[in-house]
Amino acid sequence: MSHLIAPSILSGDFANLGKDIEMLNNSAADWIHVDIMDGVFVPNISFGFPVIKAIKKLAAKPLDVHLMIIKPDRYIHRFKEAGADNLIVHFEACTHLHRTIQTIKQEGMRAGVALNPHTAVNNLEAIIHDVDQLMIMSVNPGFGGQRFIEQTYQKIELVRNLIEKTGANTKIEVDGGVNLTNAPKLLAVGAHILVSGSFIFGSVNPMETISALKGIS
Ligand code: DX5
Ligand code: ZN
Repeated sequence: MSHLIAPSILSGDFANLGKDIEMLNNSAADWIHVDIMDGVFVPNISFGFPVIKAIKKLAAKPLDVHLMIIKPDRYIHRFKEAGADNLIVHFEACTHLHRTIQTIKQEGMRAGVALNPHTAVNNLEAIIHDVDQLMIMSVNPGFGGQRFIEQTYQKIELVRNLIEKTGANTKIEVDGGVNLTNAPKLLAVGAHILVSGSFIFGSVNPMETISALKGIS
């Protein structure tokens, strides 16, 4: 498959979300990345169900919902109802990750697992077959606009090795500080899905920036 681009609406204009969603609908974006922060798992609060529902009404593309919250199991059904197509939970926030993944799938969503920069890839060896998308955090989660952690390339290689060794069909997603400088190398080492927020929305022409990220060969 050619790589996917998932712009993060966290860097959009919250007073004009409709305009940004329309731009994304008309762009080369594949998914819309939606960051949910609870102020406990991460030191920031973003937004909740009413905003996701409003985005869903306008979005012509799947919502890739990234939960930076503790005890995500309590809300899996609510996120499905709100319009999530992919639901990504953090490894560090789940005591019974296998069960959480099964519940997400039973709800008819793609199941994703995110790893913080300090979390080792081999933690997922036993369940990699069940994970639709494994998201490598290339910043510490909580804020847009942070600097990309260079160690990420090596981590992606480890994920790729794990996927090859186990024959799993897991896609590798990267989130945080992604731009046109690091994206070619991220794709070269094995990333399938690139999330990008401030680089896209802070650019002069976000639609062209999305096309440029999508057009990397
Ligand atoms: C960080 C979020 C990211 C963020 C990406 O906690 O999970 O999705 O919005 O934004 P940039 O691309 O600005 O790092
Ligand atoms: Zn995210």
